[in-house]
Amino acid sequence: MTKPHPDAASEVPEFPVTRPDSCPFDPDEIYARLRAHSPVSPVRCPAGMDAWLVSRYKDIRSVLTDPRLSSRGAGSMHMLPSYDGRDPSPGSMIQLDGEEHARLRRLLIGEFTVRRMEALRPSVQRITDRHIDAMLAEGSADLVRDFALPIPSLVICELLGVPYDDHGAFQRDSEVLIGFDADEATRDAATRRLEGYLGELITRRLAEPQDDLLSRLIVRGKATDRPPTVPELATLGVLLLVAGHESTANMIALSALVLMADQERTAALRAAPDTIGTAVEELLRYLSVIQFGLLRYATEDVTVGATEVAAGSWLVAAIPSGNRDEAVFTAPDTIDLRRPPRTHLAFGFGPHQCIGQQLARIELQVALTTLLRRVPGLRLAEPLAESAFKHNDIVYGLRSLPVVW
Ligand code: HEM
Repeated sequence: MTKPHPDAASEVPEFPVTRPDSCPFDPDEIYARLRAHSPVSPVRCPAGMDAWLVSRYKDIRSVLTDPRLSSRGAGSMHMLPSYDGRDPSPGSMIQLDGEEHARLRRLLIGEFTVRRMEALRPSVQRITDRHIDAMLAEGSADLVRDFALPIPSLVICELLGVPYDDHGAFQRDSEVLIGFDADEATRDAATRRLEGYLGELITRRLAEPQDDLLSRLIVRGKATDRPPTVPELATLGVLLLVAGHESTANMIALSALVLMADQERTAALRAAPDTIGTAVEELLRYLSVIQFGLLRYATEDVTVGATEVAAGSWLVAAIPSGNRDEAVFTAPDTIDLRRPPRTHLAFGFGPHQCIGQQLARIELQVALTTLLRRVPGLRLAEPLAESAFKHNDIVYGLRSLPVVW
């Protein structure tokens, strides 16, 4: 049951807020005012419930590590206009708390170590080169369709052991899940199709294990006190498949747009490709593609900053705001690809911090350096229309990016 915060009145601003027209990479200007004057501020979400919008970096970190704040609403779903308050499916790790969450995270964590992810770098490079070869042969491209989307999609398919030939179907369903427009029935149908698809694949792997992540999860699970069920593994597989390509794809496309916007900055990066690690961290901070932030639910009374938040309240940890907090980042609205890395919040923080972050970093580093090196004259084929930007999706990004070189 959602408890309204005491000052919930008709004046409460609507959330999510919109981006300014001046720059497609900046979050709403309201965040700077909120950080200064009302860092934990009442808002109303599209699903109708009231929430506290938490805008300062420090408070966001404390929200994301406080065990009294539940992740049941994580994935921003409760912000959607159609949310009906149901419990998450078992296996939906991102929405589970405490030991329920830790049990699944323990199962996965060994698959996503820095070492294991680094071992994938040559394969990411091979996939990237293949797509650039195809683009160069064509003479022009839609950088989203031909580059940003297929690379992480192929990588996660290879890792999981999902046949890439099926990607057309799961790509459509995955877009429904991260979009803002579909009603609950459409979302449910997409989830069921994806879980059904992964469920069948897992059943095949149970009978005949392969050298892939899903097979290894089954084996590792069997050695635990409570082996995961097929539906749990299917939900986990869907989460990895969707989370594993959508955010990275959007980051690749937006980053390419940022780079094309300033040739001087791009030339500097091209001349010093070994600085790509630092540049990618800055792009992650600056773009903050998880644009509506992360939702948490107070299971007890808590104090956030100086604000008392009652049990039963919702909180939104506004990642794009925390990543532009002037108390932590000097000149936060300026992109500086040589900025000394500080822990940004693009991958979240605390027990649910992105498990695929190392893979995302490698994909971004390889995709961007290869693009800069092999397609030096890359530029927009035409000015981008407003409709090219995903203003209504949980993950900010581009629908298409027509380029020439
Ligand atoms: C640039 C790309 C990415 C961004 C910006 C991103 C962002 C995030 C964020 C903010 C969270 C925290 C959610 C929360 O606290 O409620 C998260 C969790 C998660 N991400 Fe990512 N992610 C990216 C790429 C990936 C990739 C490549 C994978 C998989 C291969 C992945 C899998 C996951 C999973 C499974 C979780 C849930 C972790 C848990 O609940 O313990 N992500 N991600």
